Amino acid sequence: MKLLFIGDIYGKTGREMLQEYLPRMKSWFHPNITIVNAENSAHGKGITEKIYHQLLAMGADILTMGNHTWDNRDLFEFIDHADRLVRPANFPEGTPGTGLRVIQVNQTKIAVINLQGRVFLPPLDDPFRTADRLVAKARKETPVIFVDIHAETTSEKLALGWYLDGRVSAVVGTHTHVQTADERIFPRGTGYLSDVGMTGPYNGIIGVDRAAVTRRFLTSMPVRFESEQGSGQLGAVLITVDPKTAKATAINRILINDDHPFFD
Ligand SMILES: [Fe+2]
Ligand SMILES: [Fe+2]
Repeated sequence: MKLLFIGDIYGKTGREMLQEYLPRMKSWFHPNITIVNAENSAHGKGITEKIYHQLLAMGADILTMGNHTWDNRDLFEFIDHADRLVRPANFPEGTPGTGLRVIQVNQTKIAVINLQGRVFLPPLDDPFRTADRLVAKARKETPVIFVDIHAETTSEKLALGWYLDGRVSAVVGTHTHVQTADERIFPRGTGYLSDVGMTGPYNGIIGVDRAAVTRRFLTSMPVRFESEQGSGQLGAVLITVDPKTAKATAINRILINDDHPFFD
Protein backbone atom coordinates (compact mmCIF):
# COMPACT_ATOMS: atom_id res chain seq x y z
CA MET A 1 0.00 0.00 0.00
CA LYS A 2 1.08 3.56 -0.63
CA LEU A 3 0.99 6.59 1.66
CA LEU A 4 1.30 10.00 0.03
CA PHE A 5 2.29 12.85 2.32
CA ILE A 6 2.37 16.47 1.16
CA GLY A 7 4.25 19.15 3.10
CA ASP A 8 2.98 22.39 4.57
CA ILE A 9 0.39 23.97 2.27
CA TYR A 10 1.29 27.67 2.32
CA GLY A 11 -1.47 30.14 1.42
CA LYS A 12 -3.29 30.46 -1.87
CA THR A 13 -0.29 29.40 -3.96
CA GLY A 14 -0.01 26.22 -1.91
CA ARG A 15 -3.69 25.44 -2.27
CA GLU A 16 -3.48 26.02 -6.04
CA MET A 17 -0.47 23.70 -6.30
CA LEU A 18 -2.40 21.00 -4.44
CA GLN A 19 -5.40 21.46 -6.69
CA GLU A 20 -3.27 21.21 -9.81
CA TYR A 21 -0.95 18.38 -8.85
CA LEU A 22 -2.80 16.13 -6.40
CA PRO A 23 -5.08 14.62 -9.07
CA ARG A 24 -2.05 14.11 -11.32
CA MET A 25 -0.03 12.49 -8.53
CA LYS A 26 -2.99 10.31 -7.60
CA SER A 27 -3.42 9.00 -11.12
CA TRP A 28 0.33 8.40 -11.37
CA PHE A 29 1.08 6.90 -7.92
CA HIS A 30 -2.31 5.51 -6.78
CA PRO A 31 -1.84 6.25 -3.07
CA ASN A 32 -4.19 4.50 -0.63
CA ILE A 33 -4.14 7.56 1.61
CA THR A 34 -3.19 11.19 1.13
CA ILE A 35 -2.02 13.08 4.22
CA VAL A 36 -1.49 16.84 3.95
CA ASN A 37 0.11 19.24 6.42
CA ALA A 38 -2.18 22.28 6.53
CA GLU A 39 -0.65 24.46 9.28
CA ASN A 40 0.02 27.35 6.84
CA SER A 41 -2.91 26.86 4.49
CA ALA A 42 -4.74 30.08 5.45
CA HIS A 43 -2.43 32.82 4.20
CA GLY A 44 0.50 31.17 5.98
CA LYS A 45 -1.29 31.24 9.32
CA GLY A 46 -3.29 28.24 10.46
CA ILE A 47 -6.43 27.00 8.79
CA THR A 48 -10.04 28.13 8.36
CA GLU A 49 -13.11 25.92 8.22
CA LYS A 50 -13.61 26.80 4.56
CA ILE A 51 -10.05 25.79 3.69
CA TYR A 52 -10.37 22.61 5.77
CA HIS A 53 -13.26 21.54 3.56
CA GLN A 54 -11.49 22.73 0.39
CA LEU A 55 -8.40 20.63 1.10
CA LEU A 56 -10.51 17.54 1.75
CA ALA A 57 -12.49 18.20 -1.44
CA MET A 58 -9.20 18.43 -3.35
CA GLY A 59 -8.41 14.88 -2.28
CA ALA A 60 -6.68 15.04 1.11
CA ASP A 61 -7.87 12.26 3.45
CA ILE A 62 -6.43 13.72 6.62
CA LEU A 63 -4.68 16.95 7.62
CA THR A 64 -1.82 17.46 10.06
CA MET A 65 -0.79 20.73 11.72
CA GLY A 66 2.15 22.26 13.63
CA ASN A 67 3.25 25.38 15.51
CA HIS A 68 0.84 27.51 13.45
CA THR A 69 -2.19 25.43 14.53
CA TRP A 70 -3.88 28.25 16.45
CA ASP A 71 -2.83 31.21 14.24
CA ASN A 72 -6.32 31.43 12.78
CA ARG A 73 -8.95 31.48 15.50
CA ASP A 74 -11.47 29.90 13.14
CA LEU A 75 -10.10 26.53 14.23
CA PHE A 76 -11.30 27.01 17.82
CA GLU A 77 -14.84 27.00 16.44
CA PHE A 78 -14.68 23.83 14.34
CA ILE A 79 -11.87 21.61 15.68
CA ASP A 80 -14.30 19.61 17.81
CA HIS A 81 -16.04 18.33 14.70
CA ALA A 82 -13.01 18.30 12.35
CA ASP A 83 -12.69 14.53 12.30
CA ARG A 84 -10.06 14.64 9.53
CA LEU A 85 -7.57 16.84 11.35
CA VAL A 86 -4.80 16.10 13.81
CA ARG A 87 -2.77 18.71 15.67
CA PRO A 88 0.49 18.04 17.54
CA ALA A 89 -0.26 15.40 20.17
CA ASN A 90 2.17 16.85 22.69
CA PHE A 91 0.30 20.14 23.10
CA PRO A 92 -0.63 20.54 26.80
CA GLU A 93 -3.35 18.32 28.18
CA GLY A 94 -6.77 19.93 27.82
CA THR A 95 -5.94 21.51 24.42
CA PRO A 96 -8.81 21.04 21.95
CA GLY A 97 -8.40 18.49 19.17
CA THR A 98 -6.40 15.29 19.01
CA GLY A 99 -2.95 14.18 17.89
CA LEU A 100 -3.93 10.70 16.72
CA ARG A 101 -6.58 9.54 14.31
CA VAL A 102 -7.16 6.15 12.78
CA ILE A 103 -8.88 6.17 9.42
CA GLN A 104 -10.22 3.29 7.43
CA VAL A 105 -9.01 3.06 3.83
CA ASN A 106 -10.69 0.19 1.99
CA GLN A 107 -9.76 -2.89 4.03
CA THR A 108 -6.94 -1.22 5.91
CA LYS A 109 -6.79 1.04 8.92
CA ILE A 110 -4.09 3.70 8.94
CA ALA A 111 -3.13 5.70 12.02
CA VAL A 112 -1.83 9.25 11.65
CA ILE A 113 0.07 10.89 14.50
CA ASN A 114 1.23 14.52 14.60
CA LEU A 115 4.00 15.60 17.00
CA GLN A 116 5.92 18.82 17.46
CA GLY A 117 9.59 19.16 18.35
CA ARG A 118 10.91 21.23 21.24
CA VAL A 119 14.23 22.49 19.90
CA PHE A 120 13.99 26.17 18.81
CA LEU A 121 10.21 25.97 19.27
CA PRO A 122 7.91 26.78 22.20
CA PRO A 123 8.11 24.32 25.11
CA LEU A 124 5.68 21.42 24.94
CA ASP A 125 5.29 17.96 26.43
CA ASP A 126 7.94 15.41 25.50
CA PRO A 127 7.26 14.26 21.90
CA PHE A 128 9.18 11.00 22.47
CA ARG A 129 7.14 9.85 25.47
CA THR A 130 3.96 11.12 23.81
CA ALA A 131 4.87 9.00 20.79
CA ASP A 132 5.35 5.93 23.04
CA ARG A 133 1.88 6.37 24.42
CA LEU A 134 0.13 7.07 21.12
CA VAL A 135 1.93 4.36 19.15
CA ALA A 136 0.87 1.80 21.76
CA LYS A 137 -2.69 3.08 21.52
CA ALA A 138 -2.70 3.09 17.70
CA ARG A 139 -1.23 -0.42 17.48
CA LYS A 140 -4.31 -1.81 19.21
CA GLU A 141 -6.15 -0.85 16.01
CA THR A 142 -3.53 -1.03 13.28
CA PRO A 143 0.22 -1.53 12.80
CA VAL A 144 0.24 0.92 9.87
CA ILE A 145 1.19 4.17 11.55
CA PHE A 146 2.34 7.42 9.96
CA VAL A 147 4.06 10.12 12.04
CA ASP A 148 4.44 13.78 11.01
CA ILE A 149 7.15 15.24 13.26
CA HIS A 150 6.85 19.00 12.99
CA ALA A 151 10.23 20.25 14.16
CA GLU A 152 13.05 22.64 13.43
CA THR A 153 16.16 20.52 13.74
CA THR A 154 17.19 17.46 11.76
CA SER A 155 18.78 16.01 14.92
CA GLU A 156 15.51 15.93 16.87
CA LYS A 157 13.67 14.45 13.88
CA LEU A 158 16.34 11.85 13.21
CA ALA A 159 16.38 10.88 16.88
CA LEU A 160 12.61 10.35 16.80
CA GLY A 161 12.91 8.37 13.59
CA TRP A 162 15.43 5.97 15.11
CA TYR A 163 13.47 5.88 18.37
CA LEU A 164 10.32 4.73 16.55
CA ASP A 165 12.05 2.37 14.13
CA GLY A 166 10.11 -0.86 13.90
CA ARG A 167 7.09 0.57 15.74
CA VAL A 168 5.67 2.75 12.95
CA SER A 169 5.64 2.59 9.15
CA ALA A 170 7.01 6.09 8.59
CA VAL A 171 8.34 9.17 10.34
CA VAL A 172 8.42 12.26 8.13
CA GLY A 173 9.38 15.78 9.15
CA THR A 174 7.71 19.09 8.39
CA HIS A 175 8.14 22.74 9.46
CA THR A 176 11.40 23.91 7.84
CA HIS A 177 9.69 24.19 4.44
CA VAL A 178 12.91 23.01 2.78
CA GLN A 179 13.02 19.43 1.55
CA THR A 180 15.93 17.28 2.69
CA ALA A 181 17.47 14.50 0.60
CA ASP A 182 17.98 11.92 3.38
CA GLU A 183 15.09 9.56 2.70
CA ARG A 184 15.83 6.06 3.97
CA ILE A 185 14.37 2.97 5.54
CA PHE A 186 15.69 2.18 9.01
CA PRO A 187 16.76 -1.44 9.78
CA ARG A 188 13.46 -2.38 11.42
CA GLY A 189 11.36 -1.03 8.57
CA THR A 190 10.45 2.56 9.35
CA GLY A 191 10.58 4.90 6.37
CA TYR A 192 12.17 8.26 7.19
CA LEU A 193 12.68 11.73 5.72
CA SER A 194 13.86 14.70 7.81
CA ASP A 195 11.70 17.22 5.97
CA VAL A 196 9.29 16.85 3.10
CA GLY A 197 9.44 20.55 2.20
CA MET A 198 6.51 22.85 1.66
CA THR A 199 3.81 23.45 -0.91
CA GLY A 200 3.57 27.15 -1.67
CA PRO A 201 5.43 30.06 -3.24
CA TYR A 202 8.70 28.93 -4.85
CA ASN A 203 10.42 32.30 -5.02
CA GLY A 204 9.77 33.50 -1.49
CA ILE A 205 11.68 32.60 1.65
CA ILE A 206 9.94 29.56 3.12
CA GLY A 207 6.74 30.99 1.65
CA VAL A 208 7.09 34.58 2.79
CA ASP A 209 7.65 37.67 0.61
CA ARG A 210 11.43 37.63 0.17
CA ALA A 211 11.82 41.42 0.18
CA ALA A 212 10.26 41.60 3.66
CA VAL A 213 12.39 38.74 5.01
CA THR A 214 15.54 40.24 3.55
CA ARG A 215 14.67 43.62 5.07
CA ARG A 216 14.34 42.02 8.45
CA PHE A 217 17.73 40.33 8.15
CA LEU A 218 19.29 43.61 7.04
CA THR A 219 17.70 45.84 9.68
CA SER A 220 16.41 43.57 12.51
CA MET A 221 13.27 45.72 12.34
CA PRO A 222 9.85 44.05 12.60
CA VAL A 223 8.21 43.61 9.19
CA ARG A 224 4.82 42.46 8.04
CA PHE A 225 5.04 39.02 6.49
CA GLU A 226 2.95 38.46 3.37
CA SER A 227 3.01 35.45 1.04
CA GLU A 228 5.38 35.70 -1.92
CA GLN A 229 3.64 35.86 -5.29
CA GLY A 230 4.37 33.99 -8.49
CA SER A 231 5.12 30.37 -9.25
CA GLY A 232 4.63 27.55 -6.82
CA GLN A 233 6.37 24.45 -5.52
CA LEU A 234 5.15 21.22 -4.01
CA GLY A 235 7.02 18.99 -1.58
CA ALA A 236 5.82 15.45 -0.97
CA VAL A 237 6.90 11.91 -0.23
CA LEU A 238 5.50 8.55 -1.26
CA ILE A 239 5.99 5.65 1.13
CA THR A 240 5.28 2.10 0.05
CA VAL A 241 4.26 -0.13 2.96
CA ASP A 242 3.88 -3.90 3.05
CA PRO A 243 0.34 -4.31 4.41
CA LYS A 244 1.22 -7.65 6.05
CA THR A 245 4.21 -6.43 8.06
CA ALA A 246 3.44 -2.66 8.10
CA LYS A 247 7.10 -2.09 7.23
CA ALA A 248 8.14 0.46 4.63
CA THR A 249 9.58 -1.14 1.50
CA ALA A 250 10.27 2.05 -0.46
CA ILE A 251 10.38 5.80 0.10
CA ASN A 252 10.48 8.33 -2.70
CA ARG A 253 10.69 12.10 -2.45
CA ILE A 254 8.64 14.27 -4.77
CA LEU A 255 9.61 17.88 -5.48
CA ILE A 256 7.76 19.95 -8.03
CA ASN A 257 8.83 23.48 -8.98
CA ASP A 258 10.15 25.48 -11.93
CA ASP A 259 13.48 23.68 -11.66
CA HIS A 260 11.95 20.23 -11.11
CA PRO A 261 8.87 19.91 -13.35
CA PHE A 262 6.47 17.01 -12.83
CA PHE A 263 6.12 14.82 -15.89
CA ASP A 264 3.09 12.56 -15.98
FE1 LIG B 1 4.92 25.24 8.04
FE1 LIG C 1 5.74 25.04 11.34
